[in-house]
This record gives sequence, structure tokens and C-alpha cells, in this order.
Amino acid sequence: MIKIGKLSLKTHVFQSPMADCTDIAFRLVARELGLELAFTEMISAEALARGNKRTLPLIRRVPGDRPLGAQLVGHSPSAMGKAAAIIEAMGFEILDLNFGCPMRKVTGPGAGSALLQRPDLAAEIFENVMTHVKKIPVTVKMRTGFTDPSGKEALCIARLAEERGLSAVTVHGRTRAQGYTGKADWGVIKLVKKNLKIPVFGNGDIFVPEDAKLMMETTGCDGVAIGRGALGNPWLYASIRAVLAGQTPNLPSFEEKKRVALEHIRLEVQYEGEKMGVLQSRKIAAWYFKGCPNVAQLRNKINRASTLKEITALVLNFVS
Ligand SMILES: Cc1cc2nc3c(=O)[nH]c(=O)nc-3n(C[C@H](O)[C@H](O)[C@H](O)COP(=O)(O)O)c2cc1C
Repeated sequence: MIKIGKLSLKTHVFQSPMADCTDIAFRLVARELGLELAFTEMISAEALARGNKRTLPLIRRVPGDRPLGAQLVGHSPSAMGKAAAIIEAMGFEILDLNFGCPMRKVTGPGAGSALLQRPDLAAEIFENVMTHVKKIPVTVKMRTGFTDPSGKEALCIARLAEERGLSAVTVHGRTRAQGYTGKADWGVIKLVKKNLKIPVFGNGDIFVPEDAKLMMETTGCDGVAIGRGALGNPWLYASIRAVLAGQTPNLPSFEEKKRVALEHIRLEVQYEGEKMGVLQSRKIAAWYFKGCPNVAQLRNKINRASTLKEITALVLNFVS
């Protein structure tokens, strides 16, 4: 069991937010296979605070989709505060602040990973958010630094977060400059963990259960957040828990992969509509059948399909 503020969780293996990936369908499928704490993708605090109509669909939730965290990205303390109050009023179980996004359109105005270089502004954001949020835990997810790989920037922001009353910190072991290249530096996760009292979660390059075990052992982190490793592998969360408990994980058969991929695609169509769901299914099929010898042919056929019925038939007839 682990506590993030007042939120008690049975497991310490979480889903990391991923734009255009961790939507309702993704989360429901992962929950069916044992995921506990999930997150929406990041949403703009300014857009939410302004009442932009395109923002709300990104943080829609359905019954059974809990505990769920929402993630805000932004650089304006007042917009972050206002948006935080909206997130709490919407009934989310947790609020995460994005201090890691590397995209130029986010860092340009000073949000995401750019905040790692602005401790003054970061502190103001934390303070404003904390005055607007009364009940749910607030956490921050960050990279190790903007360009400086030493971990100094992450440690500074993590300390500020703890001082201002945030409940936990997640560290992705890469700088903004690294993007998604190279290897995640788990040493910085260890550094932050060593210097904080609130829980510190490690993130970056967990693709097989043994990676999570090694990260926890070498960094001492309190839990792990899984991003890309769970795309097409929603069994990973439970497998990690099994390995951490000294058990052998159950690996899915090819037929089970087909069943779950189809359920993921069906839910995508259910919640996003057939047009969007069909588009998304191209990506989903590639995730689930990555490494299968005939996956390129399957993708080509799915790219030409336009209905759920056609895609279902293609996946059912797919032989590895
Ligand atoms: C397609 C994609 C979208 C992402 N979107 C977000 C996001 O909205 N918010 C966030 O904090 N991190 C986002 N990330 C970063 C991941 O949450 C995670 O920190 C990163 O991928 C490293 O972890 P991993 O090696 O387990 O994937 C995204 C990553 C990818 C690949």
C-alpha cells in the first residue's frame, strides 16, 4: 500500500500520462488487467480556465475509470490555480502538474520542462495551485533538467514542491534536450529520492518487469510510472507487481493479445466515434502486434479500412 497525500493506493505501479494515447479506451483496458492509478493526458490550464470547449473531452471519464488523475500544463500561476480548482470540482482523485513536456509549443511560452529553469515561477505556481485545491493530492512530474543533466534543476523544483505542500514527485530520467533519445538517467531519480520526504516515483525506460525492479532497487523510489512500455502491453502493470512480489508473471498468448487489442479498438470507437476510433486503431494494432512478422501487412490493410467491422475481421484473421 502507498499513500499520496490522503489517497491510499494498493499498488505502486502507475500509468504515466501520454497525449493521444492514454484516453478512456486505453485506461479501461489497462484497468481490466490490473492498473490502479491512471492519468489523463496533459491539458492546457489556460484553455480549461477559459472554458475552451475542445479541452473538456480530453479529460472526460466514465464510470469505473478511477482512481484517475488529471494533468495540467501551463505557465501562468493564476490560470494553473483556476484550472486546478476546476479539476478538483470535477471529482478527479489527484492533480498532477506537468514540468516535463519538451515540445517547443509548450516550452516556448515557459511551460512544461521550461519551468525547471524558473524556480521563482514554479514556486508561485505551486502556491497558487495549493490555495485553490482543498481535498485532493497535488503532484508534479518533471524531467531531470532543461539541458543540465546533473539533476540540480530537478532537485531544486522537487524541494520547492515539497515545501509548498505537494504530495509527491515523479522524475523522468531525461533532460528536455534529450527528448526521448539515449537512456534515462536513474541516478537523478535516486538523488531526488534521497533528499525528499514525500514519495518520489521513478519514470523512464521501464519496458519489462525486471526494469521496474531494478529501478526501485537502485534508486529507492517509492513507485514507478510506466509510459511507452505499456502501449500494446497493458499486462505490464500486473507483471511488474508479480515480479516485485517474487512471482512469475503470466504472459499473454497471441490469442489473448488479439482479444485485448480488439477490445481496445472497440472501446475507442465507442468513446471517440467510428471515424476517430478507426484512425486510432492503426496505432493500436501496431502497438499490440509490434515484432510480429506480418505486422506490416496488417497495418497496411487496417490503413485502408474504414469501419470497426472491417478492422475486427482483419485482426481476427491475423496470423503471426
Ligand atoms: C506519445 C507520448 C505522449 C506523452 N504525453 C505526455 C503527457 O501528456 N504528459 C506527461 O507528463 N508526459 C507525457 N509523455 C511522457 C511520458 O509520460 C513518460 O514520462 C516518458 O515517455 C518516459 O517514460 P517511459 O520510458 O516509460 O515511456 C508522453 C510520452 C509519449 C511517448
